Amino acid sequence: MTTRPVSPNLALDEVVAQRRARGETIAHFGFGESRLPVFPQLALRLAAGVHRSAYGPVAGDPTVRAAVAGYFGRRRVPTEPDQVVLAPGSKALLLALQIVVPGHVVLPRPSWVTYAPQARLARKPVHVVPIATDHGGVPDPALLRRAVAGAQGQGLIVLTIPDNPTGTTASPELVRRICAIAEEKDLLIVSDEIYRDLRHHPDVPFLSPAEVAPERTVVLTGLSKSMALGGWRIGAARFPAAGRWRSLRDAVLSIASEMWSALAGPMQEVAEYAFSEPPELRTRVAEDARLHAAVASAVHRLLIEAGATNSRPTGGFYCYPDFESLRAPMADLGIRNSAQLQQHLLEEHGVAVLSGHHFGDDSQALRFRVATSMVYGDSEEEQMQALQSRDPAGLPHIRRQLDTLAAALANLSGRWRRP
Ligand SMILES: Cc1ncc(COP(=O)(O)O)c(C=O)c1O
Repeated sequence: MTTRPVSPNLALDEVVAQRRARGETIAHFGFGESRLPVFPQLALRLAAGVHRSAYGPVAGDPTVRAAVAGYFGRRRVPTEPDQVVLAPGSKALLLALQIVVPGHVVLPRPSWVTYAPQARLARKPVHVVPIATDHGGVPDPALLRRAVAGAQGQGLIVLTIPDNPTGTTASPELVRRICAIAEEKDLLIVSDEIYRDLRHHPDVPFLSPAEVAPERTVVLTGLSKSMALGGWRIGAARFPAAGRWRSLRDAVLSIASEMWSALAGPMQEVAEYAFSEPPELRTRVAEDARLHAAVASAVHRLLIEAGATNSRPTGGFYCYPDFESLRAPMADLGIRNSAQLQQHLLEEHGVAVLSGHHFGDDSQALRFRVATSMVYGDSEEEQMQALQSRDPAGLPHIRRQLDTLAAALANLSGRWRRP
């Protein structure tokens, strides 16, 4: 039996929880979760759904699928309920796709920690293609063209817009270029849009591949990030309605029926409400996005001041700095790769981040992901304060953790003396 490790971000979150339980103080930037209270109406919907104890249709109840179809329709992607599948998290849908779509899997480098392990579980060959310098989530088009030049047959490419780990949002122009290559090379596009509603400003341009290549794009979304409901496990996918990928939804439904049967009944009640986007919920999502923008920008400034190269985040709650500029002083501290950098920050400074190699990046590069949404507070009161503040990064409980990060980074260069 091949034993595979637990996904590194979940594993790190557990390590931090254990160390905190032992009394250690850790500034936790290592896990991609939006630490915010459940919106009260969502809790009420969950309570109202408690009697929904039947299994129900595998794809989700028709009324819930209609709500998801409406969600996509309001985003320039007209959708029929029969194109939608709900599941316990978008992760489950992604794995089902990786299992049923034949051929290779093309991933941007770096990309979210789960894509490559899932491809390996599905026994698919993986091609990683570096991102361009300014935008993560999609591969550099020239490098993509070169990588798939000799590839024969089908395959899929995963895009993340906005991106985890870089926190950047691919431009519409870039999305169009990738869609053209996918068309030419007959790749199915899996567009992971779970951070779409958390763009930092309404004017950050967004183009879904489903608008450009609807017959070869599956869109994944969910409530884990935009509604801060990761633990409730609610995900959804939109499948092509026509073309040669028309039967893909049925193939995924077959896997779903054997693996999870259906999204839990009470969660369907929540999903129907959330995907129909009543005004009060839109307001809350906009407040969340404002908070993520403010804290991610503060962290970005701090990283630049510490000497990192770092693209400005425009969506979600991540920064992905590169500390190549500090290679020499870090070598004096015995840090020569990203795993050692992660280890050093945790052991010496009580700062948890996730190193770049977990995202498929060059293990020798001095890069890591900072999840900026973990610092909003331990209590609901602190988290609400963060949501309502005009200057959340200035709140004492958030400032303290940002200062810990800044001090740790200063130490990486501080001991260095040029010979
Ligand atoms: C890019 C990306 N996709 C999907 C997910 C997980 O989604 P879900 O909770 O819907 O399974 C995450 C969570 O970290 C993510 O960062």
